[in-house]
Amino acid sequence: MKKLLVYYSHDGSTKFVAEIISKIIEADIMELIPEENINITGIMKISWGVRQLITHPKPKLLRNNINPSDYDMIVIGTPVWSYTFSPPINTFFNEYKLSGKKVAIFCCHGGQKGKTIEKMKECLKGNIIIGENDFLEPLKYRKEENLKKIIEWANNISK
Ligand SMILES: Cc1cc2nc3c(=O)[nH]c(=O)nc-3n(C[C@H](O)[C@H](O)[C@H](O)COP(=O)(O)O)c2cc1C
Repeated sequence: MKKLLVYYSHDGSTKFVAEIISKIIEADIMELIPEENINITGIMKISWGVRQLITHPKPKLLRNNINPSDYDMIVIGTPVWSYTFSPPINTFFNEYKLSGKKVAIFCCHGGQKGKTIEKMKECLKGNIIIGENDFLEPLKYRKEENLKKIIEWANNISK
């Protein structure tokens, strides 16, 4: 079975989780990189969040050679922005209409994940959701607990 891990990360948490999972399940990696660098600090998080809620941005992504259609199983990871998935993942859902895939989804957040997982599932209708999970700031808090949770989940979804 060909496996792909697709993710966007602004501050490194989702990247950290994605890299561990991809190694365990032996998946190729597709990092979503916006053409225009997104650099958000401090109070800008709120203005970006509000903007996102209103305009649902789909930032252009740098091209890469990976075609998700070639894969049987896809894991998708995102940070939570404004209680939902991040704009680059929005672009991904719009550019690639996945169907008939085994899909596992996860998000990293600061304690308010809102309906991120549910909203991702809505965009993935027609696929089989084989797993879902969320991680609270895995680089900042309870590192060992989070690491254990990541490893257990990766092993589960690859069964
Ligand atoms: C623009 C923006 C909006 C955010 N909105 C939320 C939110 O609604 N709920 C939450 O729990 N965390 C929110 N966060 C925090 C991130 O989800 C959290 O720090 C996550 O671990 C970051 O993942 P990353 O390091 O892969 O970018 C937001 C961060 C940014 C930059």
